Amino acid sequence: MVRLAFRVMDREQALRLLRDKTSKDVTVRHLITVEGVMRRLAEHFEQDADRWGLAGLFHDLDMELTHADLSRHAYLAAEWLREEGVDEDIINAVLAHAHEQYQTDLMSRAIVQADAVAGFLVACALVRPTKSEGMKVSSCKKKLKEKSFAPGVEREEIWSCEEKIGIALDDFLAIGIEGIQSVAEEAGLTSAG
Ligand SMILES: [Fe+2]
Repeated sequence: MVRLAFRVMDREQALRLLRDKTSKDVTVRHLITVEGVMRRLAEHFEQDADRWGLAGLFHDLDMELTHADLSRHAYLAAEWLREEGVDEDIINAVLAHAHEQYQTDLMSRAIVQADAVAGFLVACALVRPTKSEGMKVSSCKKKLKEKSFAPGVEREEIWSCEEKIGIALDDFLAIGIEGIQSVAEEAGLTSAG
C-alpha cells in the first residue's frame, strides 16, 4: 500500500508539543504510559506502532485546559494537532477516546481500552515497591475486582476488552503491563523512580 500522503511526526517533536501543552507530571506520565500500551497493542495487531503510539501520546493533550468543560475535550487537541500537520487518522483516534462517533477503526477503538488499562496499571504500579518491575497479571486482576482500588478507572473499558477489541482479559493485562514497562523509566515507574 502506498502511503506517501502520511507523515508521522517524530517522537522528539511530539514530546516538545507535549511539554508545550501540559504542565503536570501526572498528565505527562499518563500520556507516556498510554503511548507505551498503544505501541504494544499495535504490535499485537501488526499495525503501525509509531502511529498508534502518537495517538496514545496525544489523546489527553488538552486535558489540563478542558477538564472543566469536557464537551471541548479532545476537540482542542485536534485543533492543535491539525496546526502541527499531524495525520487525520491519529487525530481521529484522539477524538475517539472521548467521543464515540469517532470510533471508526481498530486504532480509534483500541485507544479507549488502552486509556483505561494504562490508568489502572499505573495505579497498581504506584503501590508496589518496585513499581512496574515484576508486575503480574494475577495480582492486577485481583485489584481489578477491588472496587475501592483506583475508583476513577473506567473498569468497564477493561472488562470489555474481549468484546471490543478481541483480546482476552489476561492477555490484555499482559500487553498492558508490557506497555507500561516499556516506558517505565520515562514515566517514573521503576524501583529507582
Ligand atoms: Fe486518558
